[in-house]
Amino acid sequence: MFSLFHKHRSIRTLLPDGVDTHCHLLPGVDDGVPHADEALQLITAMKKLGLSGCICTPHISRRFPMNTPAVLRRAFCRFRQLVAAAHPDFTLQLSAEYEPDEHFISHIEQGEILPWLQPEMILVELSISRPLSGWADLLVELLHRGYIPVLAHPERYHRHLSEPDLLHLHRLGVRFQGNIGSLSGVYGRNAQERCRRLFAAGLYFRWGSDSHRLKAFRALPLRR
Ligand SMILES: [Fe+2]
Repeated sequence: MFSLFHKHRSIRTLLPDGVDTHCHLLPGVDDGVPHADEALQLITAMKKLGLSGCICTPHISRRFPMNTPAVLRRAFCRFRQLVAAAHPDFTLQLSAEYEPDEHFISHIEQGEILPWLQPEMILVELSISRPLSGWADLLVELLHRGYIPVLAHPERYHRHLSEPDLLHLHRLGVRFQGNIGSLSGVYGRNAQERCRRLFAAGLYFRWGSDSHRLKAFRALPLRR
């Protein structure tokens, strides 16, 4: 039977302000787009779908110890100059996708944080297979400090996080950012089905492509 969740969705539906809120577009800093050429081609592909901007969300995690906010800001400034020349109508913002670890709160206390969408919002990701212990306490700590943690692709944590636990986080004030590819099963059937349930319950605050490559972006279930 034709499934509602296999169809291509319009940009207007998922990204109504025309901004991809989660993308590894900043070249050469993590497991995302490796070179500026591909990053510029990815922007061309985004514009063809009607997107007008992107929030770059490179990883800040134990996997990429070189990625400090200062390093990422420098890389972003260089890349923004290229984009301004090639795509002056495309807006870029710098944020990050944080893995909450033992250094997380001290970064915040020192003001060394790259917020997401709003000054008080912080995009966080967990390991798909085995998150660091204490991560939930860190999210609660963020809430107590007046920040809003936004959990990236919550539908992908089905191996270690139950849906009641996810709903509990949402009730506490954690917001959810869904991955568009989850709607078409890019991350497997479990993530797709969980995504469908969270979507139907109206629990996604925003959507993003989480693109790491041009090819992956082109495969997303998106249309103008
Ligand atoms: Fe990501």
